[in-house]
Amino acid sequence: MTDAKKLYIRTYGCQMNVYDSERMAEAMGAAGYRQTDSPEDADMILLNTCHIREKAAEKVYSELGRFKPLREANPDLKIGVAGCVAQAEGEEIMSRQPMVDLVVGPQSYHRLPQMEARVRDGKKALDTDFPVEDKFDTLRNRPKARRGPTAFLTVQEGCDKFCAFCVVPYTRGAEVSRPATRVLEEARDLVERGVREITLLGQNVNAYHGEGPEGGDWSLARLIWALNDIDGLERIRFTTSHPNDMTDDLIAAHGQCEKLMPYLHLPVQSGSDRILKRMNRKHTAESYLRLIERIRAARPDILISGDFIVGFPEETEADFRATLDLIEEVNYGYAFSFKYSERPGTPAAERAQVDEDAKAERLQRLQSLITRQQRAVQDSMVGHNVKVLFEKSGRQPGQMVGKSEYLHAVHVSDSSLAPGELASVEITESGPNSLGGRLARMPAA
Ligand code: 5AD
Ligand code: SF4
Repeated sequence: MTDAKKLYIRTYGCQMNVYDSERMAEAMGAAGYRQTDSPEDADMILLNTCHIREKAAEKVYSELGRFKPLREANPDLKIGVAGCVAQAEGEEIMSRQPMVDLVVGPQSYHRLPQMEARVRDGKKALDTDFPVEDKFDTLRNRPKARRGPTAFLTVQEGCDKFCAFCVVPYTRGAEVSRPATRVLEEARDLVERGVREITLLGQNVNAYHGEGPEGGDWSLARLIWALNDIDGLERIRFTTSHPNDMTDDLIAAHGQCEKLMPYLHLPVQSGSDRILKRMNRKHTAESYLRLIERIRAARPDILISGDFIVGFPEETEADFRATLDLIEEVNYGYAFSFKYSERPGTPAAERAQVDEDAKAERLQRLQSLITRQQRAVQDSMVGHNVKVLFEKSGRQPGQMVGKSEYLHAVHVSDSSLAPGELASVEITESGPNSLGGRLARMPAA
């Protein structure tokens, strides 16, 4: 028997890409590849790319440049670009970087084995179709390898919202939901393999409307309730959501569904109605704030996180202050913030741009406010018990690290703990990025 060929995958961007990279590794597993952690050993290198902001795409090109010596040392090494840069730039990648053999969009990675055969023949392979067949279908007979305690599960892809700054509707295409039966099957399979927490993924996951087992569409809430019945699954999360798709049943699930964790990522992007309108967000600052109130009424301890863009075209200091006011009012437990970056082909790229210095200055002010909030929320955990799902060993000997219900990283030094264990922890300290604690005397219910 010949040795397996080796595949090195580097993943950029969001959790959907993390999920896609796992699926690509499985597809290539069927073509005789096993994964390696070092590009130097690889017979094939795949970059799973992100196109959401300018720097993300530029990083890919500079990374490709760095693989040049490897390719010179090993002419049999094949190099591929996958993901959203592949989708958006397709042939341009091959002309800009002739050493790229293969370009595969996010909807076509189930075709990787055929594409690999083509590049082994010395040809180039490019596939950025939105095929009619379901790429998830090919994943059903995968090997039953043991998994860690947490996993992502993509249930929805694409987006029909067309926010004026965003490339997702173009790179990932129209909104598509996977049938509920398939999702439940995959969830049961993950649980059999050791997974205890599943994060449902979608670019606009709360718009989920997958076909139900008896026909008719299921909402995300309905899907979550069905997942709640799976024995051995302890925790359910979902990301990322649009405010306008926070339906009543989903808000109610946050109050009633015991496995649904009290954490919600609900991006608002800006607190200025003028800018929200120009962003084509189809909601106002006020409607977002009222929504947060309703969610908190259903689940008072829920931790809210968000995304913000500063320096969107025509954003004034007054608009920016409105964003700071909204942040003050919501009190975020976590947030991601970005300087607006022009994405070719999106409506906002054509408009009057805010200068870079103003963007940088606003980003700094916004981040210092968010950091203060985050830290205060985290510090407020000290003295309380949280339930932690332990995932892996920490940096210190005998230390284990896991996540609380609120997604805070928590470390505990206790040699009795193992990955996959769920335990009550009394929080004793709050550091810059994580909490520390000791096992509480009462076992987790
Ligand atoms: N510039 C800056 N940030 C962006 N995002 C999406 N597109 C852009 C862009 N062109 C941010 C949004 C989104 C997150 C995933 O990335 O905040 O919620
Ligand atoms: Fe992009 Fe999200 Fe807006 Fe869709 S809802 S266009 S993915 S920012």
